[in-house]
Amino acid sequence: MEQSEPTVNDCLVFSVNGERFEVSTIHPSTTLLEFLRSHTPFKGAKLSCGEGGCGACVVLLSKYDPVLDQVDDFAVSSCLTLLCSINGCSITTTEGLGNIKNGFHPIHERFSGFHASQCGFCTPGMCMSFFSALVNAQKTQRPEPPLGFSKLKVSEAERAIAGNLCRCTGYRPIADACKSFAADVDMEDLGFNSFWRKGDSNEVKISSLPLYNHNDKICTFPEFLKNETRPSLLLDSRRYSWNNPVSLEELQSLLGSVEDGNGTRVKVVVGNTGMGYYKEVESYDKYIDLRYIPELSMIRRDNNGIKIGATVTISKAIEALREYSKGGLYSEGDMVYKKIADHMEKIASGFIRNSASLGGNLVMAQRNHFPSDIATVLLAVGSTVNIMNGLKSEELTLEEFFRRPELDSKSILLSVKILSWDQITGISSGAKMKLLFETYRAAPRPLGNALPYLNAALMAEVFHCKTSNGIIISSCQFAFGAYGTKHPIRAAKVEEFLTGKMLSVGVLYEAIKLVRGIVVPDDGTSSPAYRASLAVSFLFEFFSHLVEPNPESHDGSVDGYSTLLVKASELKRISNQLDHGKIPTLLSPAKQVVELNRQYHPVGEPIAKSGAALQASGEAVYVDDIPSPMNCLHGAFIYSTKPYARVKGIKFKPKSLPDGVSSLISFKDIPGENIGSKTIFGIEPLFADDFTRCAGQYIAFVVADTQKHADMAANLAVVDYDVGNLELPILSVEEAVRRSSFFEVPSILNPKKVGDFSRGMAEADHKILSAEIKLGSQYYFYMETQTALAIPDEDNCIVVYSSIQCPEYAHSTISRCLGIPEHNVRVITRRVGGGFGGKAIRAMPVATACALAAYKLRRPVRIYMNRKTDMIIAGGRHPMKITYSVGFKSDGKITALHLDILINAGIAADISPIMPHNLLGALKKYDWGALSFDIKVCKTNHSTKSAMRAPGEVQATFISEAVIEHVASTLSMDVDSVRSKNLHTFNSLKFFYEGSAGEPVDYTLPSIWDKLASSSRLKQRTEMIKQFNMCNKWQKRGISQVPIVHEVSLRPTPGKVSILSDGSVAVEVGGIELGQGLWTKVKQMAAFALSSIQCDGMGDFLEKVRVIQSDTLSLIQGGFTAGSTTSESSCEAIRLCCNILVERLTPTKERLQEQMGSVEWGTLILQAQSQAVNLSASSYYVPDFSSMKYLNYGAAVSEVEVNLLTGETTILQSDIIYDCGQSLNPAVDLGQIEGAFVQGIGFFMLEEYTTNSEGLVVTEGTWTYKIPTIDTIPKQFNVEILNSGHHTKRVLSSKASGEPPLLLAVSVHCATRAAIREARQQLLSWTGLCKSDLTFQLEVPATMPVVKNLCGLENVESYLQSLLS
Ligand SMILES: Cc1cc2nc3c(=O)[nH]c(=O)nc-3n(C[C@H](O)[C@H](O)[C@H](O)COP(=O)(O)OP(=O)(O)OC[C@H]3O[C@@H](n4cnc5c(N)ncnc54)[C@H](O)[C@@H]3O)c2cc1C
Ligand code: FES
Ligand code: FES
Repeated sequence: MEQSEPTVNDCLVFSVNGERFEVSTIHPSTTLLEFLRSHTPFKGAKLSCGEGGCGACVVLLSKYDPVLDQVDDFAVSSCLTLLCSINGCSITTTEGLGNIKNGFHPIHERFSGFHASQCGFCTPGMCMSFFSALVNAQKTQRPEPPLGFSKLKVSEAERAIAGNLCRCTGYRPIADACKSFAADVDMEDLGFNSFWRKGDSNEVKISSLPLYNHNDKICTFPEFLKNETRPSLLLDSRRYSWNNPVSLEELQSLLGSVEDGNGTRVKVVVGNTGMGYYKEVESYDKYIDLRYIPELSMIRRDNNGIKIGATVTISKAIEALREYSKGGLYSEGDMVYKKIADHMEKIASGFIRNSASLGGNLVMAQRNHFPSDIATVLLAVGSTVNIMNGLKSEELTLEEFFRRPELDSKSILLSVKILSWDQITGISSGAKMKLLFETYRAAPRPLGNALPYLNAALMAEVFHCKTSNGIIISSCQFAFGAYGTKHPIRAAKVEEFLTGKMLSVGVLYEAIKLVRGIVVPDDGTSSPAYRASLAVSFLFEFFSHLVEPNPESHDGSVDGYSTLLVKASELKRISNQLDHGKIPTLLSPAKQVVELNRQYHPVGEPIAKSGAALQASGEAVYVDDIPSPMNCLHGAFIYSTKPYARVKGIKFKPKSLPDGVSSLISFKDIPGENIGSKTIFGIEPLFADDFTRCAGQYIAFVVADTQKHADMAANLAVVDYDVGNLELPILSVEEAVRRSSFFEVPSILNPKKVGDFSRGMAEADHKILSAEIKLGSQYYFYMETQTALAIPDEDNCIVVYSSIQCPEYAHSTISRCLGIPEHNVRVITRRVGGGFGGKAIRAMPVATACALAAYKLRRPVRIYMNRKTDMIIAGGRHPMKITYSVGFKSDGKITALHLDILINAGIAADISPIMPHNLLGALKKYDWGALSFDIKVCKTNHSTKSAMRAPGEVQATFISEAVIEHVASTLSMDVDSVRSKNLHTFNSLKFFYEGSAGEPVDYTLPSIWDKLASSSRLKQRTEMIKQFNMCNKWQKRGISQVPIVHEVSLRPTPGKVSILSDGSVAVEVGGIELGQGLWTKVKQMAAFALSSIQCDGMGDFLEKVRVIQSDTLSLIQGGFTAGSTTSESSCEAIRLCCNILVERLTPTKERLQEQMGSVEWGTLILQAQSQAVNLSASSYYVPDFSSMKYLNYGAAVSEVEVNLLTGETTILQSDIIYDCGQSLNPAVDLGQIEGAFVQGIGFFMLEEYTTNSEGLVVTEGTWTYKIPTIDTIPKQFNVEILNSGHHTKRVLSSKASGEPPLLLAVSVHCATRAAIREARQQLLSWTGLCKSDLTFQLEVPATMPVVKNLCGLENVESYLQSLLS
């Protein structure tokens, strides 16, 4: 572990935000992000995934070309970019665009004003991805835009952020903020914002936007650096070196100097994005950057095709292919280039493609079996590669390349050649040949940033044979890849079979049978049957228009050729259109209907979120942004991979332990109690003791000098387990039942049954008995992972900065763990980069472990958990198994429902005993007649499940809809009418919800239901969908309207308001700002409540109010920020404080008024101070028991389109009406509604949080866990916030918005089910399936494989067979 000092031969020079940096000693594996965050003051770039999949770390990288005297600017992910590779470059982070001192950039301001930043953790990366697009649009030859706009187009603005993830906003407002810069934007299309009011003219709107002057260029490349660009760099130490060879000879000599067998590890690098996938932990001795070798970076076109150097980035390759395909005459061969470019555009995201090289991709595919798109596409078009080994170089076809043994580390891929079409086929241009070429990929995200389940590139030359009046395939080349095969393959048997054949349904059917035999995923691949079915679908899609009977041809003959010719000219037209930049936009203009309430001004104003611009500019401080104190250490958890085992010890793999590891902390080091978290239901130990009881349980905490070393050490730890003589773990709820392993639910939380189930069943005309459904888990995917910083203080005290939703609980947990009094502990939380429930209980052990390590080692200790560990330990949403029996009348009225629900709670109680209560709160949304249930909270050897946004309620909503759909399907009735039939009257609502139901006037659901049906044109659209479904074979649409009822309760909350001598106000609340806008609402409330003193000079009083960080010693009993009601209860607590202050100030005010006539606020405060008025007031708001619970209402209509060939679901439109009472801040509530809905889409449609057979989470990163992105949200998303007037028992008549709207996303799932039903109906007509197949369960999430499975994995074959018979 001993480290020799490096001898430096050279140094790195670069700039960050115009500041010069010179680095001579750095390990070559250091990333740009690590450097920015630990060696510069710029913390704007955030770490979230560390694997290129989220965009939180995006910065602008600028390179200067001295020959052309021009600067190339592009976005890159700084988490994968190696610092040594940016020699001579300039980096711009979001701080470089603007800041609070010198003025924010209009991007920052518009993000704030369009309400596009909630927790803010994604915002700097979003801003930089967008800024890069803005800078590059300005470089185009497009006409000068009007002042305030850029040359960017709306479609480009949307696509600029397509690779960036946001877990809070739902993307719509981010897209609007970006679109507001586009020259072609229609101002009418921009959504709700704080710049203008509804009805303002376009001129007013434009002038209200923070001015963007495209002529005010931000200097992305400082002059001084232009004189310092030096490509050659050699950083050398005795232990490692970084080399930038500038010629092939130099490269050969460098590689040649590495002797085989002497142990020197060499790494060839280009963009280093491969690390995002392979995450090698070991480091290398010699790094060789290939990008300065001219032969490897050229692009050349000749008659034979295009030759592209291996280091050319995917972005540059796309640019070149497009350029060539544009040039001059439109030829079919050029169309091939264009389609290859289009396909490449779906690889990863812009900020990866900008540094990822073509060669790197192909080498990963060859050597590491990476499921590459490029490999498949280039294989189909018969490409060749040039390989160099030593002094030898050779040209191979891609097929030969993939057949070769894996490339060794000294072999270099020099270039790729994409042959021109004539070269491949040798077909004379005179023949009336038609070239067909298409590429395909089926992936969870249409725009990219998701690996495909399968990709394909299909090419064929066909001609029309007059004698046989048919289409003959002259030649063809088909490649399939990424489906769970080592390398992409050519479907030679299919090619042989088809060559020379006349196309017909029968021939296509035979070809498809052959494809089935060829595309066979390797064992262990997920969804193998689905992947194989995709190959069939794509081959069918490729040829279908040539073989399907043309209904318009009189004799019904196959007449696809003329269609094809039409298609070709259409293609040309589209292509021309594209060249003129008319790329369709992703999102349609959305409506946000908000009725403002000025009664409690400034409460009710849609003011921008407090601190949003600061978040955008990267200046907002999150826990990991707090500079490390002197001697700070970093920790990482070692967790169990076994569900139940004896822990015999921990070792580290020999020779691999990194430098700087200083300590390993386990339960034996705990001075107090082994406690990591607590709730009212019990505690969970911090570490496993002698036994681990679930995979993902913390076993120890390794402490090192840097986070990287701590993570590496934790990764290299080998835990010695022993399972001898131990009972088998409980890994299913069924097993928990068998072994009676349950958590007790306190009787007060046990929900009551409603009505008489037996009687209800007796009244029923029909019954469904013991139907079963299962629901899986969901991961929080907060953009900021778990993090804490603990600093030992004098006299055995400890201060802990934690990103947590309940600091009070962490406080007492730490004190119990350390065995010190609570007054020795202080937990501070300023802002949290997204919580969604995951930073409540699950954040406590993180803070506690840091506190323990800091206490033991007497040094500050911090952790910023890596995404993989975070995903493995998080627990997430509760999976459950539901069995239901339901009785109903022939008209659809349900008379009784019984549910047996088994909840998998994992190993510790956490908040799980509350789940039955929560489930029932949302389940009772329909009048079930009678409702009975048996809910068991099962204790299993899975990681502890915890609260996740709408815990229990979202599952209950799904269960309700599944029952309704089942009833409708059994009765062959329209689902929406069954829903309407079972909606509550106020009387039945009262019967089910008792006191929470409130007064009849509060029950707004029936009016919401009708209003939404009309505003969303449900009836008309249902008719249109029927028509659509009749006319379309491979796309089916579905629409669904769903109501929600969500019960919430208020909890006691403290508050404190202090007026300082200058009249400014500091506010403290129990609630934590998680991005949900709590501080903003609290600020508005303080301004409103204090303004009742009616002084002069209180005009912009909001400016005087600051909500300050939560500090558990300053304000005690903070409680939990959870359950959607913390904002309103925090507001109420502050109102109470302000009322006290107003009462105290009133005598002084009156006296002054008498003396002076009018009183300025500042004067009043000075006077009050001099008269010893106490200017600080605390309160503890305790909600009235009789009204602490209430119901929230909303409804959504969603329309989807399902692709029957791929299983892809597109959400065409969602319309929501949600009752916010009198919103405290409609902008904030709108953000909550949209964001929650999109998170719900994730749960219902996309996110698979799965474990292996031992309960260890296997979807552990952005590669496998897919949250919604801008291309998977509703294309049109209309939201109306209902202002339902006075609710006397609510805080200023407001209602909650944080969680309930998440449930509305079930409408997307229901609409998908409706579309699938159409698909199955059609399948029925082809195959004669039984009618009962129209009753089916649609799993959650309804991913592409799930949907395709229900639409028929062999639907293509069934269709062709039906044509044949
Ligand atoms: C988030 C993300 C999503 C992605 N999605 C997709 C996708 O959907 N489809 C797809 O096809 N790809 C995808 N990729 C893969 C991406 O295309 C590759 O990571 C990239 O092209 C590799 O290029 P690089 O320059 O970064 O290679 P590096 O990371 O620098 O190198 C990768 C490997 O190749 C070796 N190497 C590189 N160049 C050469 C050479 N010329 N000769 C010999 N060895 C060499 C290196 O030693 C290393 O082992 C994705 C990547 C990321 C990070
Ligand atoms: S942190 Fe770099 S892309 Fe996610
Ligand atoms: S605002 Fe985007 S992740 Fe929170």
